[in-house]
Amino acid sequence: MAEKNTAVHTLAPDEILQVKNLSINFGGLKAVDDLTFTLKEKEIFGLIGPNGAGKTTVFNCITQFYKPTAGEIWFRTNKGTVENLIGKQVHDIIRLGLVRTFQNVELIRELSIIDNVLIGAHIDFKASVLSQALKLPKARREERELRQQAESVLDYLGIVELKDQLAGGQPYGILKKVELARTLMCQPRLIILDEPAAGLNDVETEQLAETIHTIRDKYNCTIFLVEHDMRLVMSICNHICAISFGKLLANGTPSEIQNNKSVQEAYLGAEED
Ligand SMILES: Nc1ncnc2c1ncn2[C@@H]1O[C@H](COP(=O)(O)OP(=O)(O)OP(=O)(O)O)[C@@H](O)[C@H]1O
Ligand SMILES: [Mg+2]
Repeated sequence: MAEKNTAVHTLAPDEILQVKNLSINFGGLKAVDDLTFTLKEKEIFGLIGPNGAGKTTVFNCITQFYKPTAGEIWFRTNKGTVENLIGKQVHDIIRLGLVRTFQNVELIRELSIIDNVLIGAHIDFKASVLSQALKLPKARREERELRQQAESVLDYLGIVELKDQLAGGQPYGILKKVELARTLMCQPRLIILDEPAAGLNDVETEQLAETIHTIRDKYNCTIFLVEHDMRLVMSICNHICAISFGKLLANGTPSEIQNNKSVQEAYLGAEED
């Protein structure tokens, strides 16, 4: 008989996410190994580690793209409840207010920029499938409102003039913004960003730092990011968790992480490979 899940959460009132004893194995590889850390509300929280450390896998476990081998993932939802995300469907996680971008931008090249952003809003499209198909007034009104919302998000990110252009062929920096815009259509309480600065030049990276700050304030949400650009991580994160080979190395403020011996060794070791 399946064991009854009797786990209870220990999230403090100012905490939004707790990853508790998380593990996932791929064959013999322990990609994430008994990892525990907690994010506070409104933090900009960084997850760092050498290539292959397991960072994207942690994100894939939280968002249930992967089913973890063990552990609990407690999340304070946009309804104010605290739920264990283990076993939920990917689209349910988005509805609860946890949204993400991907390390390798995932957009539909054949669709316009605004339609890619509207895909993010699809989960909140309330009109029934039939009324959408018949283009009944309620469905038309809802679609108009969502388009306006998508335009204002694109405007906020400075790319509204590109809204009708196809996503395919746009520069990488623009595609990253479109993905970000998509997350903002989902009433996010927690936004997960997998290497948002990858492929951006120095100026774009500086703008991104500013954008991440203003998104946190304007949308009143928490940001959880993986990033290799240490200058960006150290300048914008309130708190950082460093991992290597799927295990926790250190957890602390940017300066604590910078001065941590195990973190320095893990990065030096990775450079020598
Ligand atoms: N679906 C999978 N099947 C098998 N192995 C996987 C799978 N996903 C990830 N891995 C392995 O798990 C380990 C961690 O990979 P992951 O992509 O999480 O690393 P990362 O820290 O995000 O690295 P990077 O900084 O290069 O993006 C790697 O050894 C990778 O090959
Ligand atoms: Mg990765």
